[in-house]
Amino acid sequence: TLSDLFSIHDFLIFIARKAGEMMYSADPCVSTSSAKRNTSDLVTATDKAIEEMITLQLQAKYPQIHFLGEESFSSQKLTDRPTFICDPIDGTLNFIHGFPNIAVSLALTIEKKPVVGVVYNPFRGDLYTAIKGQGAYLTTSNGHIRRLPLRSKPAPLTSLNGCLVAMEWGSERQGPNWDLRTSMSKALMSSKASGGAMSHSIRSSGSAALDFCYVAAGQIDVFWEGGCWIWDVCAGWIILEEAGGLVASANPGDWEPQLEGRLYLAVRVAEKEGQQRVVEELWALMENK
Ligand code: IPD
Repeated sequence: TLSDLFSIHDFLIFIARKAGEMMYSADPCVSTSSAKRNTSDLVTATDKAIEEMITLQLQAKYPQIHFLGEESFSSQKLTDRPTFICDPIDGTLNFIHGFPNIAVSLALTIEKKPVVGVVYNPFRGDLYTAIKGQGAYLTTSNGHIRRLPLRSKPAPLTSLNGCLVAMEWGSERQGPNWDLRTSMSKALMSSKASGGAMSHSIRSSGSAALDFCYVAAGQIDVFWEGGCWIWDVCAGWIILEEAGGLVASANPGDWEPQLEGRLYLAVRVAEKEGQQRVVEELWALMENK
């Protein structure tokens, strides 16, 4: 019921703030991290400790709800059952370097769709939250609660060439996702034959979860990612949708993205036509790479 979703939402916020305290008091550095798949795919003791805390808290309060977390993920598949999805630190590389664009990302899915999302950056004190059908909100460090998007009348979105685009590099440094990311970054930064720029510019600030929230807030126009995971995007997805933004798959032609897809496009609030035009322009860039 809606009141269950509200209690879960409140509990996820309580856990997110606890996770934030753990991040804030930790002092990680490159030498205390360990590599997972390669030297850019890192994990710290704090990632593991936070995920353990989150698991214990959720299992004690909601033992009937399934759990899927980044650090304990093995080969579990997302099912239709209610499932908590958690990324203890989205932006681990930022965390290790002390770059303050980091968040804990917590979501609840039902039938493989996110219905509650909480993304919290303890270094900025920004808390982004959403419940299906109830809108998306930003609570700032001074306690102000603002509905997303931040501008009540978002500017028109006519084409990719006026857009500030976020894209991320992930940890892969070879293979198809890497090739796609390098070709897309070049395409987005290049000039069109007519002389205009393909996009205003690109930004890569190291946390896909926060990128979704920036798009929901209207601070970034588009987020394109060629290979992230369910826990990176799940909470941000419902926050963006509740703000009125569009989530599509970065697979050309796919307007109905799946949570396990790994290729995502997020477009800020604007008229449907403009949102769709931008998605189609991005798909065309991917096909012409
Ligand atoms: C990563 C970040 C990064 C994105 C990767 C993610 P992590 O999450 O969101 O920006 O490019 O795809 O896996 O590993 O820091 O939780």
